[in-house]
Amino acid sequence: MCGIIGIVGVHSVQERLIDSLKRLEYRGYDSAGVAGIVDGHVQRRRAAGKIRALEAVLVADPLNATVGIGHTRWATHGAPTTRNAHPQTAGRVTLVHNGIIENYADLRDMLKAEGRTFESETDTEVIAALIDFELGSGKPPLGALKAALDQLRGAYAIGVLIDGEDDLILGARKGSPLVVGYGDGEMFLGSDALAVGPFTNRIAYLEEGDYVAIDHKSAKIFDRNGAAAPRPVRTVAASAALVDKGNYRHFMEKEIHDQPEGCQRTIAAYVDTLTERAAMPGGVDFANLSRIQIVACGTSYIAGLLGKYLIEHLADLPVDVEIASEFRYRQPALRADALVIAMSQSGETADTLAALRYCQARGMPSACVVNAIESTMAREVDVVWPIHCGPEIGVASTKAFTAQISVLTALAVAAARARGRVDSAEEQRLVRVLLGAPRLIAESIDLEDAVKAVAVEISKARDVLYLGRGPMYPLALEGALKLKEISYIHAEGYAAGELKHGPIALVDEQTPIVILAPFDSYFEKSASNMSEVMARGGQVVFITDPEGQRHAPAGARVVVTAPQCDPLIAPLVMAAPIQLLAYYVAVQKGADVDQPRNLAKSVTVE
Ligand code: AGP
Repeated sequence: MCGIIGIVGVHSVQERLIDSLKRLEYRGYDSAGVAGIVDGHVQRRRAAGKIRALEAVLVADPLNATVGIGHTRWATHGAPTTRNAHPQTAGRVTLVHNGIIENYADLRDMLKAEGRTFESETDTEVIAALIDFELGSGKPPLGALKAALDQLRGAYAIGVLIDGEDDLILGARKGSPLVVGYGDGEMFLGSDALAVGPFTNRIAYLEEGDYVAIDHKSAKIFDRNGAAAPRPVRTVAASAALVDKGNYRHFMEKEIHDQPEGCQRTIAAYVDTLTERAAMPGGVDFANLSRIQIVACGTSYIAGLLGKYLIEHLADLPVDVEIASEFRYRQPALRADALVIAMSQSGETADTLAALRYCQARGMPSACVVNAIESTMAREVDVVWPIHCGPEIGVASTKAFTAQISVLTALAVAAARARGRVDSAEEQRLVRVLLGAPRLIAESIDLEDAVKAVAVEISKARDVLYLGRGPMYPLALEGALKLKEISYIHAEGYAAGELKHGPIALVDEQTPIVILAPFDSYFEKSASNMSEVMARGGQVVFITDPEGQRHAPAGARVVVTAPQCDPLIAPLVMAAPIQLLAYYVAVQKGADVDQPRNLAKSVTVE
């Protein structure tokens, strides 16, 4: 969850290191730092807090270097202080690190026994000391790096400077992503395509266990066994590397508004618009599949839950959905004739990756629904189902969420047809409904003024309850997650039918209750839940559609009316109001919408 950049060149690197770190801030922003080789020796500049604090340090004390590394941190070991900021130095070695070293304490004890002292609380400093220790035994830089890597247990992506080496950066990855960028007379190292995107679109993706030495004109890549492994150099679409907010105040606002286009592009990849049939690439035989196992975290997990409702209802195909961090440790009973689907925007989430690998090790065919098509997950599964919504920068996932649902909706239709649950005519009708979703999502986003008005009230709340039935239950979970993670207001999503089994005790005049209820087969029951809540003084925000508004019990504090739509795409259409609600509450509270405290966009550590 940290961001790494390295540049070996012939021009000053300071500005470009900072530019890249700003693109990487979504990965973590507790502290930041840079280091470079100046007159043959390493110099560091570091600061706690956002990149702008580091920029202030550099104004006072510039880094005049043509070889340098940079890092923006999401703290795991050690508080987010300058002392714990990267780059970390030990002897001749200065490095930046993304990941967690599980055996760092043992290694630190061993190194202390060799007479070494430590300045920080970080596992990163232990890596630097270990490489320096190996250098001290007479090994050359690459040999010292490899010897140190062989002793590490855990996850790392590192960029390393060696004092006295002014045309060299070492790198290595295991469990955290790292790419090599190929420039003209300059070479780059970065956490992902975004990191090096402003400088080059020619990128090689390091594989698990790879390590690399780059100078200003080339890269020597080695695999985990030390054998030369020249990874293919790909040309990454420029748009994937260069993103900005356009006319919006926040990436999240832009990405909410990008959803019609993102869903449009995604749906188009999974239906044949000429024959109006669903078309899932990869040749999965849904007719003979016993079960689907979805593993994911956070919003991606909620998208998977929605997939369960859609796939089981339409295709009569059992779907299990589990939180990856629970699944991977509970020894689940698995069958090799089930398909595991990893849901992940980043394709790098550690728990989801581990859960996926757990299933693969037991012979299950695997797929992933992912945004980063060059990510580790995408490179390890049998079938990749990309979401085509473009880079998602806001830490709170929005356009990726609806794009994931779009893929699972198309999958549900394709599986239903393959299993004979719908005939060709019904398949075509469902595909037409799905193709109409982007327009209705756009209409739903147009509700933002009504939602903004509600946000003022909700921003004063201490607790908020979100209720929904059927597919609106996962959406209630998502609404609560969005509100929590960007406005810091405690919120809970609940199955509306569970209200009387406990949560109704929370209902009073101070607790807003957001009820999601389009006019579908669950509506009557949701309407009676609404009456139960209002009878106890609850302040109901009712999110429905025109038909639901006509049938809703009187007394809701606010009614937000989303466009009428077929139940198949109700999750897609009802997502925008809850995303906008969280967004405007956060804005009302002056929260840091794109970089909420304590969070990071890609959780690449456990
Ligand atoms: C979503 O708003 C959150 N930021 C978070 O829950 C996220 O969905 C989760 O960390 C999973 O990330 P992934 O989709 O990249 O695997």
